[in-house]
Amino acid sequence: MDPECFLRPEVSLSDESAAAARFTNTAQDRQNCRVSAADFDYLKVIGTGSFGEVLLAKYKENNRYYAIKVLKKRIILKKEAEGNVMCERNVLVKTLNHPFLVRLHFSFQTKERLCLVLDYASGGEVDLKPENILLNSEGHVVLTDFGLCKEGIVGRATTKTFCGTPEYLAPEVLQQQEYDRTVDWWGLGAVLHEMLYGLPPFYSADRIKMLGNIIYQPLVLEAGVSKTGKDFLKRLLNKDRSKRLGAKHDMDEIKRHAFFSSIHWDDLVAKKIPPPFVPTVTGPDDLTNINPAFTRLPVPEFTDVCEEAGLTFPDFSYISATSY
Ligand code: ADE
Repeated sequence: MDPECFLRPEVSLSDESAAAARFTNTAQDRQNCRVSAADFDYLKVIGTGSFGEVLLAKYKENNRYYAIKVLKKRIILKKEAEGNVMCERNVLVKTLNHPFLVRLHFSFQTKERLCLVLDYASGGEVDLKPENILLNSEGHVVLTDFGLCKEGIVGRATTKTFCGTPEYLAPEVLQQQEYDRTVDWWGLGAVLHEMLYGLPPFYSADRIKMLGNIIYQPLVLEAGVSKTGKDFLKRLLNKDRSKRLGAKHDMDEIKRHAFFSSIHWDDLVAKKIPPPFVPTVTGPDDLTNINPAFTRLPVPEFTDVCEEAGLTFPDFSYISATSY
């Protein structure tokens, strides 16, 4: 894979995954190899979100474990987030072979729910808050959740979303100004700040205050992080997007920064660099790295297994060429 595509799912469509996407989207395939809610045993809740839960489930066909992201159609429609959901599904279909993006195996719908069947990343979350950066059992990062990708990040759904979590959003997004790909480099800076300092930049427990801080307050970087680390953060978290690192040459500028001087990018993408932390995972269904706040929740019942009745989302259902 071209290392330029790292963190750029929309441009990383390989021939193979394109072929898979084409293959699985024919009506004939969907008829011949349906996957439905009844094909899984639902074991535990391993995550929650505004649209539903993520469940650990076992596929009866092959006894493998998967994380199934369950989204409630009623809530999606109420929040006018159909675009976000289809965007997430489309990004997952397009990025099947990316080393650090969660892999989609199937998606199906019931009368009331949309379901994305993903690899189970058993290593848990990287940090307390960047909950969409998971570790697999080998310690490699796995990014999950693409509901706010480029096409999704417009209109009312976004307005509602950033009312909830402004931590990682660039000032221009919060101010509903024009924005471009450089919002991702701000987001990288915000997540890296949290990893290095323990809290996102401009943090306040008062969300409205934090919103004001992100837009108006200058960045203050305390002691405890290397000079290079601070320089990298300062350049990523530039409020002026035209001067932000990545504004001119995108990923190239990021890769060239001294913060990454020890990284051999081709080896990284080929997963040849041993992860610095390997989680303790005893088997494919090990839940010890998953937050007990999730696993304690009751597993919801799937009583609405019929796909035909109810609100349908055309083109949502999907079967990966290599997963059945
Ligand atoms: N939480 C959200 N997505 C997940 C996944 N794919 N594996 C484990 N936990 C998750």
